[in-house]
Amino acid sequence: MQYFLDSADVDIIRTALECWPLDGVTTNPAILARDLPEGQTVAAQLDAIRSLTGSRLLFAQVTSSDTKGMIRDAIKLADFLGDNTSIKIPATPDGFAAMKQLAADGLSITATAVYSTSQALLAAKCGVDYAAPYISHLDNLSLDGPQVAADMAEELRFHGLTQTQILAASFRTAAQVERCIHSGVTAVTVTADMLTTLATHGGTAKECANFDAKWNVRFGKGIAEMI
Ligand code: E4P
Repeated sequence: MQYFLDSADVDIIRTALECWPLDGVTTNPAILARDLPEGQTVAAQLDAIRSLTGSRLLFAQVTSSDTKGMIRDAIKLADFLGDNTSIKIPATPDGFAAMKQLAADGLSITATAVYSTSQALLAAKCGVDYAAPYISHLDNLSLDGPQVAADMAEELRFHGLTQTQILAASFRTAAQVERCIHSGVTAVTVTADMLTTLATHGGTAKECANFDAKWNVRFGKGIAEMI
């Protein structure tokens, strides 16, 4: 199981990497446009994110929409970001042509904005490492996002395309994340707030309150002061 942080904010990334057992960071053009501070260059921001992620995986996306431009963007991004980078390419007809060539050339590729099992299968056949369905966006189309992601994972397994993982993205609720994971999705990318939500349970908070109450009534000071 892999957990990624979906952010291009260096402060959020730094804190999240310290606190959570993350496998890397995902970005896309919209996230970079949102998180880039005024006066900062995209190159400097990506460089800072690369420094923070170290050997963890960093995902960065092409911005061209034609095959030739995507290939040029992908090669420049891969050169700039170095090892442990996966290049995100949208699952368009031009994108599939770029994925096929770039994966054959040995780059790690992620098919992104994947909405159907057909797109996931074609991306897998192109040799991508990840295919990323957008769960909330699927839900917004009156589809069942977690079920679509589960179907993609099942199709990949059924057809023996096991080099490609479903990387589910765009979550609004913990239930969406948990449904994906329970149904065979092996990678998710989430916000820092979602990580906190996933790690929080009222039952645990209640137990902690009970530990505190019982301990303090009897001892009145912390264990580190007593041993
Ligand atoms: C992942 O890499 C996606 O870009 C991301 O999760 C999209 O999320 P959104 O719902 O914020 O657009």
